[in-house]
Amino acid sequence: MKRSMIIGTGSYVPEDVITNQDLERLVDTSDDWIKTRTGISERRRAAPGMAASDLAVQASRPALEAAEIDPEDLDMVIAATITPDTTCPSAACWVQNQLGAKYAFAFDVNAACSGFVYGLAVADQFIRSGMAQRVLFVGVEIMTRVVNWEDRSTCVLWGDGAGAVVLAPTENGRGILSSHLYADGMNGETLTVGGGGSRIAPITHETVDQDLHTLKMNGQETFRFAVRAFSDVCIEALEHNHLSADDIDLFIPHQANIRIIDAATKRLKLPTEKVMVTIHKYGNTSSASIPVALDEAVREGRVHEGDLLLLAAFGGGLTWGANALIF
Ligand code: UT7
Repeated sequence: MKRSMIIGTGSYVPEDVITNQDLERLVDTSDDWIKTRTGISERRRAAPGMAASDLAVQASRPALEAAEIDPEDLDMVIAATITPDTTCPSAACWVQNQLGAKYAFAFDVNAACSGFVYGLAVADQFIRSGMAQRVLFVGVEIMTRVVNWEDRSTCVLWGDGAGAVVLAPTENGRGILSSHLYADGMNGETLTVGGGGSRIAPITHETVDQDLHTLKMNGQETFRFAVRAFSDVCIEALEHNHLSADDIDLFIPHQANIRIIDAATKRLKLPTEKVMVTIHKYGNTSSASIPVALDEAVREGRVHEGDLLLLAAFGGGLTWGANALIF
């Protein structure tokens, strides 16, 4: 059976580190509160002037190198992001331009923090249908540009980064087994970023003064939804493939809150060594969190050929989903 397989991974996080102590000087918060409630110790911030595609390209080059694919061999470039360089062109088109991937078609997927799980399903469908053979897919965010740095309930959570995968068709039994995607637009108000959209446009001094352009989140509501939806979709992905949690070699969850990851890990009865955690050093990088963690796992030798990986995410939309794959 034709499937799509990840043949290269890469990632990039900016050099600038913002510690919890840095944030203590900015808002009324504490290292202890942030660590206890979220598991985050520090996060990265993109340098001024850097846009999403700049980070994405830094992640894509090592992914292409690992896959031994030349940019001109790509026929599809996708970016999962809610913080593209510009509303138009898409971040994927800017990436295509920087890489010189001139034979690829390119577009963005917006599923907020579930962007990587959604985008992987999209790439998989294009490959399975035969419409694409060599796909570069990058999850990238510059969340530090859309948070309100005076709002302690959100600004401590987010960070910047990019993670890329190269996908190709295979019939060797490896590859993406299944994807399970969900959305609940009825509860979309739970997590919004108004800036740049047509609802609040054009952005004026007034809308900025009213802080209508930055990220807003009902944290408790998101937390409750995430704990339930996250583990439900993981169990669905396992059952669909007649697998049990014991079969998982590595669980790579979206990194939003260590307490949400721990709740899912507990429900799946997974030992902690089978769970990839990066939240302490990067915070929540939205659609970049899974591919950054995946690339680190590959480079640390925690993922081997033939391993069963379970990826799962949840986020704004509301959206959630999971992919089961054999690496
Ligand atoms: O990527 C997907 C989308 N995002 C998420 O998945 C996030 C999901 N939600 C969460 O992770 C958690 O709800 C948060 C980390 C955002 C908040 O944790 P919480 O345990 O739900 O805290 P809370 O909102 O119930 O707030 C508890 C207290 C409040 O004070 P009072 O009312 O008890 O006096 C907040 O004002 O903590 C206060 N608080 C803070 N204190 C110090 C909120 N933010 C901070 C802060 N530092 N940064």
